Amino acid sequence: LDEAYRIVAMIPSAEEYLALNLSVGWRKTSDRLAIEKALSNSTICLCALQGDRIVAFVRVIGDGSITFYIQDLIVIPECQRKGIGRKLMQAVMDFIKTNAAPVAYVGLMAAVNVEGFYRPWGFTRRSDDRPGMDMVLRREE
Ligand SMILES: CC(C)(COP(=O)(O)OP(=O)(O)OC[C@H]1O[C@@H](n2cnc3c(N)ncnc32)[C@H](O)[C@@H]1OP(=O)(O)O)[C@@H](O)C(=O)NCCC(=O)NCCS
Repeated sequence: LDEAYRIVAMIPSAEEYLALNLSVGWRKTSDRLAIEKALSNSTICLCALQGDRIVAFVRVIGDGSITFYIQDLIVIPECQRKGIGRKLMQAVMDFIKTNAAPVAYVGLMAAVNVEGFYRPWGFTRRSDDRPGMDMVLRREE
């Protein structure tokens, strides 16, 4: 069955993580050790596997109790729009609900055209008086 896949809690290799990011046009550091540290410090990594090939990925970062951020949700282009992203998101939300304190914060950064994808789980856009802020820190080598 070509469509069959399973969702497993698994840390991908740095190469697999980079290939997933590259497949959706996201540039990431290619520092292997930095990626391995980042993935192993995550609250959980979930992969959708077709055979032994990772076709989708998501991880949760945070304190594992009252703060959770959903990070790096990626479905490889050839597998998009087949329900895999929704299944993976559902698995992530199940994990968070199982592990969260009675009141917990769940955040994520959405691209403007992907906002609608997250709404079914109750995510709403932050208001203008609660702006999200960020930066990219670059240490010159
Ligand atoms: C966005 C992404 C994770 C969605 O996963 P997917 O497997 O393609 O989506 P699904 O097939 O599970 O779609 C689930 C539902 O969300 C909707 N949806 C999918 N992509 C959407 C998008 N970009 N915007 C709005 N709704 C979307 C689908 O229409 C579907 O609803 P329906 O069943 O009523 O039609 C995936 O397309 C992806 O990895 N994109 C590139 C990377 C990215 O943008 N990641 C998100 C970071 S913010």
